[in-house]
Amino acid sequence: MNSDDSFYISTPIFYVNDRPHIGHIYTATIADIVARRQRMIGREVFFLTGTDEHAAKVVDAASDRGLSTRAWADQNAGAFRKAFQDFGISNDDFIRTSEQRHIEFVEKVVSDLEATGDVYLGQYEGWYDVSQEEYVPESRAKEHDFCSPITRKPLVRRAEENYFFRLSEYSKPMLELLERNPDFVKPEARKNEVIGRIKEGLADVPISRTGGGDWGVRFPGNPKHMIYVWIDALLNYASAIDLDRRRHYWPATVHLIAKDILWFHAVIWPSLLMAISKARGNEWLSVPNTVYAHSFWISEGQKMSKSLGNFIDLEQLHGYKERFGLDALRFFFATQGPLDTMDGDFSRSRFIEVYNSDLANTVGNSWNRIVNMTRRYCAGRLNRKVDGEGLGAELERIASKKPQDSLGVGYVSHGVEMIKAIDGYIQETQPFKLAKDASNSSQVEEILYRCAESYRIASLYLWPALTEKMTEVWSRSGLFSYTEVLKNRGSGDLEQWTAWGGLSEGTELLEGPALFPRYLEE
Ligand code: MSP
Repeated sequence: MNSDDSFYISTPIFYVNDRPHIGHIYTATIADIVARRQRMIGREVFFLTGTDEHAAKVVDAASDRGLSTRAWADQNAGAFRKAFQDFGISNDDFIRTSEQRHIEFVEKVVSDLEATGDVYLGQYEGWYDVSQEEYVPESRAKEHDFCSPITRKPLVRRAEENYFFRLSEYSKPMLELLERNPDFVKPEARKNEVIGRIKEGLADVPISRTGGGDWGVRFPGNPKHMIYVWIDALLNYASAIDLDRRRHYWPATVHLIAKDILWFHAVIWPSLLMAISKARGNEWLSVPNTVYAHSFWISEGQKMSKSLGNFIDLEQLHGYKERFGLDALRFFFATQGPLDTMDGDFSRSRFIEVYNSDLANTVGNSWNRIVNMTRRYCAGRLNRKVDGEGLGAELERIASKKPQDSLGVGYVSHGVEMIKAIDGYIQETQPFKLAKDASNSSQVEEILYRCAESYRIASLYLWPALTEKMTEVWSRSGLFSYTEVLKNRGSGDLEQWTAWGGLSEGTELLEGPALFPRYLEE
């Protein structure tokens, strides 16, 4: 088991057959928000992402462009790495399945499993979904008119000699696992889907192929066979941890994925891990705590697909970043995204609406008012440190609400609610009216302290999403210590930081450009 203060989160490793798009950036951003919040709480976080390179569609995409597979994979892995930097993703490692450290790990695991009989040589014939790189069981193929249940492309009939993984042995252990750990699959509705499918029965799965060229990991001792890309890919979560200094992160706290790859993560992966642990008799390959499957973004009301050409691609995302700022995009992902079981629509008009109402008119405007009033009525300083009367209890009430999602992404919305409470308090106490009479000055100072201090607390909830702008707020109010801690990925102390009274008496609030200027569409 990992120690209580370590937290390991992963994203899927993404195929390098094409460039990153909104779906990849979304998952990475949500994982990033979770990772940052956990670092603030004081956890020692390991955040992993990377690329899945040995798929046949990578070979095809490269040859369509007249490039070697390696060159195309390098180019796109580079594009993913760069995109994650551009969008503020704070991953601790980036693994590529074409790396030696990974390949050796996969070979070792497969040999171990062959030795125990969990992997064996057999014959397979079935319906193959080329677009998803997976076999579809007969019943499911029929149900979907022999087309891919995901992409609707026709399935093809394939027969081959394969190595198999004895998944059929793991129905019972899987059901026991789901029973023992109710958080194993999240959200709840996804868990029920998984349980339903396991109860229909688990058949052994092929884990090698022949005749598909030489791009991949060869089966140890039988080089005619290549290890099936999904087995290779899932093992990234372990190969990246296979270092003495990292093993304490195991098992993963959360594998964040989307619904399209739930089966692999919720059933095949833990079964494989149980088989590996059996083979090795060791503990470090125990099953993850949670597989969290979010849903999909659609675009302007339509499913995104290559054929419709309506993917929200990197260029468009850069456009949003340039016009509204990176924080605005991260905020939209955090508060409007398909984190639960419903798909989410990414529409420009909705983006602008949320930006203006939550960021420009609420988060940005509230800070602006507090600073302006402090400068106008108190020479820019918080002269009187007081208790949270009239606000503190409300902030505590908001903070104590559990967000809807088990990942804690919903805490970002708590930050917005807190700021709305500050606006309500200003409305109620009317410091701008009180300030007209000099005899009210101490009352005005108290009100403004409460507002600024409450904003400081809200900023800690908002920071995992609004990393740039909340850091800016901290630097305008002398709170460099947070920045220092978090910049170096150190462990924060959220509990202490969110306690009332963090702003000291005499703190100066500095003016600066609007955090989120209101956006008017030309
Ligand atoms: N390579 C496999 C995963 C192996 S993990 C051991 C793969 N790669 S992928 O490039 O197709 O990425 C799939 C993932 O991208 C989804 O699970 C999800 O995280 C993200 N998304 C892709 N399209 C998406 C949307 N339209 N909306 C939200 N996220 C989506 O599958």
